[in-house]
Amino acid sequence: MSPLRLILVGLGARAQFWMRVIRDNPDCTIVGLVDPSEPARLRALEQWPDAITAADVGLLARLEADAVLLATPPGGREAQIEAACAAGLAILAEKPLADSVERAARYVEMAEAANVPLMVGLNFRFLPVTQKTLTLFDDTVGAPEFARFTYERWRDGWKPNFNKYPLTMDQPMLWEQSIHHFDLMRYVYRSEPVSVFGKTFNPGWSMYRDDANVSALITFANGVTVNYQGLWQSNWQTPGFQWRSECARGVVVQNDQFGALNYALHDDAVLTPVSLPPYEQWINDAVALLAAFVAALRGTAPLLCSGRDHLNSLRMVQACILSAQQGQAINPADLDNDAKREIGHPSTHSAIQQRTSL
Ligand SMILES: NC(=O)c1ccc[n+]([C@@H]2O[C@H](COP(=O)([O-])OP(=O)(O)OC[C@H]3O[C@@H](n4cnc5c(N)ncnc54)[C@H](O)[C@@H]3O)[C@@H](O)[C@H]2O)c1
Repeated sequence: MSPLRLILVGLGARAQFWMRVIRDNPDCTIVGLVDPSEPARLRALEQWPDAITAADVGLLARLEADAVLLATPPGGREAQIEAACAAGLAILAEKPLADSVERAARYVEMAEAANVPLMVGLNFRFLPVTQKTLTLFDDTVGAPEFARFTYERWRDGWKPNFNKYPLTMDQPMLWEQSIHHFDLMRYVYRSEPVSVFGKTFNPGWSMYRDDANVSALITFANGVTVNYQGLWQSNWQTPGFQWRSECARGVVVQNDQFGALNYALHDDAVLTPVSLPPYEQWINDAVALLAAFVAALRGTAPLLCSGRDHLNSLRMVQACILSAQQGQAINPADLDNDAKREIGHPSTHSAIQQRTSL
């Protein structure tokens, strides 16, 4: 079978990982490279000299391909999605699909109308540590009831190899990072959120224009309650991560975002480390994600991480922002895709208040 022909759109930091992952997958090849930045195109061409390059997505109409991989900033993807849909190309879009629920919902509808598969790059779901957590719940410690999720980081937004748009975007922590965490919670707790009570803030030393730190109390339909703290502007260079789930017969404790998984039964004196297959951070998860995308396009597996499913994680982000603005808990399910209920429309806040207080 001939390899899947991909057009990589956006050739910045994240694309560097994707180029390596695609290179290592014999089922895929890159035929097109799109970025308005000439240095970015030239750098990518060094790795894929046979690919056709272009400064904009007009290329999608001219080049024979099977799919696009969007590794662009989440703001302003309208033309990219439109071009992919018009050319009938499947879409693998980096998270978050958009920087608002309303825009993301529009993209999902556009892809569905064009009958184009749309998958979102939620690579953390594919980590061995995430998969193993599910089996620990099922086979060892029993059903989770509540949890504490802490992600503490001083993210140097000026680091040369880091993207720069989060420095100036609205709510960078929530849209760029917490989206992974919220998605993981939905995934491992196998339930949808019914309440998000959030607070977002920016400490005095923050280099980000808008809030880089988030606290939230999140409740899921199955009763699981999560105490969440996500920081991009902690004040120590050494990062901290702990995700501890309290379950029917004990606890699951993950001490690193990529691994370091442990469990303890109620009477155990110490944690038992769980062995995980060897993995390379940012690579193995993307390898598995790409394999899942290819399988879906070949028709050998269902599409995972669909754009429509992703809307539920994006609604958690939006609920958290609204909650912080209003000082009260918000049910993400109460947020529909109507632009009138977008943040910043004071007239609609009262409508949401009325509905959530019922
Ligand atoms: N899944 C993960 O773990 C992970 C990790 C890092 C980044 N990301 C995501 O990847 C995406 C890109 O992030 P990044 O760090 O590479 O950002 P970046 O700023 O380093 O790169 C983005 C690139 O897109 C280009 N671009 C901008 N507008 C474009 C357009 N209209 N058409 C084509 N190219 C355009 C820019 O010139 C730049 O080269 C974001 O959605 C981000 O959240 C995901």
